[in-house]
Amino acid sequence: MSKKLFIETLGCAMNVRDSEHMIAELNAQEGYELTDNAQEADLILVNTCSVREKPVHKLFSELGVFNKLKKEGAKIGVCGCTASHLGKEIIKRAPYVNFVLGARNVSKIGDVLHRDKAVEIEIDYDESQFAFKDFRTSPYKAYINISIGCDKQCTFCIVPKTRGDEISIPADLIVAEARKAAMSGAKEIFLLGQNVNNYGRRFSEDQGKVNFTELLRRVSAVEGVERIRFTSPHPLHMDDEFIEEFARNPKICKSMHMPLQSGSSAILKAMKRGYTKEWFLNRAAKLREMVPDVSISTDIIVAFPGESDEDFADTMDVLRQVRFEQIFSFKYSPRPLTEAEGFANAVDPEIGSHRLSVLQAYQDTILDSFKAELLGKEVEVYFEELRSDGTIAGRSDNNVSVKVKGSEEWLGKIARVKITEVSRLVQYGEIIA
Ligand code: 5AD
Ligand code: SF4
Repeated sequence: MSKKLFIETLGCAMNVRDSEHMIAELNAQEGYELTDNAQEADLILVNTCSVREKPVHKLFSELGVFNKLKKEGAKIGVCGCTASHLGKEIIKRAPYVNFVLGARNVSKIGDVLHRDKAVEIEIDYDESQFAFKDFRTSPYKAYINISIGCDKQCTFCIVPKTRGDEISIPADLIVAEARKAAMSGAKEIFLLGQNVNNYGRRFSEDQGKVNFTELLRRVSAVEGVERIRFTSPHPLHMDDEFIEEFARNPKICKSMHMPLQSGSSAILKAMKRGYTKEWFLNRAAKLREMVPDVSISTDIIVAFPGESDEDFADTMDVLRQVRFEQIFSFKYSPRPLTEAEGFANAVDPEIGSHRLSVLQAYQDTILDSFKAELLGKEVEVYFEELRSDGTIAGRSDNNVSVKVKGSEEWLGKIARVKITEVSRLVQYGEIIA
């Protein structure tokens, strides 16, 4: 009987891809098969996120639960960003954990598995050319890493300390992966990196000149690739060439994530984001002008140290001017190893919670008006999921999620859908062609 692997993935899309890589290696090297029941697993992996404090706290209670329910002799491994950050501390606090594998050491999974209490968290380990075996959670969509690490120094963010310096993956390897995915039926390619539009600044070995715009052109030339998405771009590197390619290239989905973080130029400076409120507004306006049906999403942190009422009003002003289709908003969470952890001028947590609820309530009003406009519209949907309620689900090019009554035969196909029902979370529609 094959060995069973249970894996829990927290955090961002990078972690989703890292999990796929670990699943592929464990399958190829050790014959592991996935299970969604931790009790029958021979190996339990938790792929962690350290970007905010709460999930890190929860990790240890969760590990305790896994330790109680696991079957005799089963192993527990902790991977990802909290593994990089806490290292052997994890084994000290949870001695039953068998190994700790950092976010930049994914390729060593087959090795640490056989070294009890191994801790592999080297931050300058270079995996940028490692040929991982293939595994994809969805046959219709392929996540492809285009870089590892992050060169930015945002003062709130722990990621450069968990994933190390940025190294781009050679374009030829990315294109080869896109080709393989497309040949096996994935029409959508999702390019991943901490800072995708900084692509090409540094490779392990000389690769000539290739930037993100050029990479987008090369991936879109691959036969069978019909849709390209990417995350996350940095507003600072959104030059005209990039926005123009985004507008012009029909294979690039018209959905852009533009992480604002704050609308106040003073706070952006304290965050070391490298752009001002005006630059951000200018880029968003250019996008809206060149791509009329673009959907723009963003990340926002409220109550960063020193954020005054006026600074917060600037963030609200950007929300009002840009009218984001979607926001991910967080209260600032001080993180170890970051510059801002030492900032003295913390905002009262109650003020922070109040600002977060004001921001979210305002965004809800924007969302409601978008949703009202959607009713009756026609969109092209790529169907990716069969739901247990007898519907098939997918997304439009500009990221509207839609459910339609239908069966398996539509999976992996693109169809024109008329939207017949809207809510804050999901839309329902009918296939018309
Ligand atoms: N506190 C709160 N939110 C944070 N993020 C990153 N670091 C922190 C922090 N210390 C948010 C940012 C980032 C998203 C992935 O998480 O908005 O874009
Ligand atoms: Fe992803 Fe950042 Fe969380 Fe690491 S800390 S998993 S890079 S969101």
